[in-house]
Parts: sequence; structure tokens; C-alpha cells
Amino acid sequence: MHVDELATPALIVDLDRLDANIATMAQRWPGTTLRPHVKAFKSTALARRLAAAGHPAFCCATVREVEGMAAAGLDADLLLANEVLDARRLGAVVDRGARVTVAVDSPETIAAAAAGGVAEVLIDVNVGLPRCGCPPDQAGRLAELASAQGLRVRGVMGYEGHLVGLEDRAARQSGVAESMALLVEAHAAVGGDVVSGGGTGTWDLNTWVTELQAGSYLLMDTAYGALGLPFQPALSLAGTVISVNPAAGYAVADVGLKALGMDHGNPTVVDPADAKLWFCSDEHLTFGRRGATSTVGDRIWVHPGHVDPTVAYHERMMVVQGDEVVDSWPVDLRNW
Ligand SMILES: Cc1ncc(COP(=O)(O)O)c(C=O)c1O
Repeated sequence: MHVDELATPALIVDLDRLDANIATMAQRWPGTTLRPHVKAFKSTALARRLAAAGHPAFCCATVREVEGMAAAGLDADLLLANEVLDARRLGAVVDRGARVTVAVDSPETIAAAAAGGVAEVLIDVNVGLPRCGCPPDQAGRLAELASAQGLRVRGVMGYEGHLVGLEDRAARQSGVAESMALLVEAHAAVGGDVVSGGGTGTWDLNTWVTELQAGSYLLMDTAYGALGLPFQPALSLAGTVISVNPAAGYAVADVGLKALGMDHGNPTVVDPADAKLWFCSDEHLTFGRRGATSTVGDRIWVHPGHVDPTVAYHERMMVVQGDEVVDSWPVDLRNW
């Protein structure tokens, strides 16, 4: 099928660019030194491609992602890099033979892991992002508590999410050094083989972790595009012009904010190249053109500002090589 025959709005993955991104990352982080984060693509088909490229261990953000990955047989080493207070569904996945580790940062989450039947944990350490993670100086005490409850403590994790998007590379670099000093300090108190952290924006700056948790690098978005990283935009939305107003100088396409993660700002219209986005509303994207006009039925292509929520809005990704649709991957790890 030609890509122009797809019903729109369509979520489109450029397979050659995806493979190039996989290869670029794997050169620096081969095998299990990379723990790709499935939250950025929510597709077991894409995860299977990563496993085939030598990355059998994955990060998940939701219990549903863990369940879906395990059901797809991608269960060699799944880390729920997030806190849960009811781990029974994770325990059920363990009972079916999967290796599941869960992040813990409090006595409550430790108790939940033990009660739910999860055998292994990482102590989640706050390294500066105002989100989950214990203070570094409490990591050792939590590790002892987890061990006392029969859990195996594999090590620590700490995600420097407040730094990964900084456009100033020097600021990113010094920030990562400060953050990772906290994680190293916590690791000294906790022990274990695993120091997990990092993301796409710090992929070549974070030299402290034993495994990188990057996910966005696979498909990319315009927010990360501003950092000048060597990863190519592999995710687009194709839309169709459904109405034009030549007198007022605008056209309207069917790619609205319900098809696009907008928390990092507007998408970028990449085709037509002279398009200037006016605004997005629920089901519509209104744009003008410098000196040119659009016709009802024309195609437009946009790159999203933020890959994770964009993917989560769609049921499937259409996989293309050049102008040919070569596959269709269900976005089968959505919801909770
Ligand atoms: C805990 C954790 N690790 C890693 C990542 C992946 O980061 P990136 O999207 O920069 O690749 C995220 C993303 O939000 C995350 O929440």
C-alpha cells in the first residue's frame, strides 16, 4: 500500500530511521547496558525489534506495560521503573515465569512488593527531579528493610528527568554529574549490581549508570530534536486537508490535539515545508502557507512535540519504508 492511501490521522514510523536510531544507541550502549523504556513506544512489536538487536531487558512505567511485555514473551528482565502500592498483578506475572523488578522508595512500596509476590527491587533514589525516589541518605535503610522482608535488592535507580531536555549541553553535563553523585552515594549504601538511570538527552553524558533507561531516542520528537542529538525523527502524523479558506489564507487538516501529545508544545508541520501552523484544536490543525495554497484532499505531515503521549493516543503505528507501508504495529501496551 502507498502511504497516501492510509486513512488519517495516521501514526507513521519510518523503519529505516528507527533502525538507524537503534544502531546508533547500540554502539554506545550494547546489549543489557541499555534497558530501553517501553513507555516511549508502547508496542511489543517494536520491543521485539530491540530484543532482536540484542537488548532483552526493558523498563516499563505501568503494570499494564509489564503484563503486555510478559504476555508477548519479552519477559527476560522487566523493570517497573515506577512505584506501585498494589503489586499483585506483578506477582502474577512473576508466577508465570517472568523476571520482574520493581522500584521502591518507601516502606509502603516495599511492603507492597513483598505482599504482591515480586521478588526483586531497585531502591529508587531522588536525584533532583521532583518526582519519585527517596532521599539519597535513606537508600541504605530502605535496602535493609527490603532485605528483611525477603526481597532481593538488585541495586539503585535514579532518573535525571529534570536535565534530559536541557538544550544547553554544558548545563546538561554539569547537572548530570551532580545528580549522579547522589546516585553513586546511594549505591554505596545499597550495594548490588545495578545502577539504572539516564535518558535520551543524557545518553552520551551519563557515564555513571550501569544501564541506560532511554526510550525517546527510538522515534524522537521535536523537543528532543532541538538538542542536536544524533537520533533521527522517525515518527510522523499524516493528515488530510479537510477544508480551506483561501480568502483568509488558511487550510485545516484532520490532525488535532487528540492525535498529538501537546505538553511540549505545538507539532511542527514538515510537509508542506512552507506551512506555518496557526493552532491545533481537538480534531483540527489550522495552518497558513507563504505564497502557496492548499487544496482539499492534500496530505500534510507533522512531527510531534512529545513522542510518549502522542503514541498513547493511537491504536496502531503504520510502518513505512520510503512511500510503502510495510507493516502495522499495534500500540498494545496502552492503558493501565
Ligand atoms: C524513569 C524514566 N527513565 C527513563 C526515561 C526515558 O527517558 P527519555 O524519554 O529521555 O529517553 C523516562 C522518561 O520519562 C523515565 O520516566
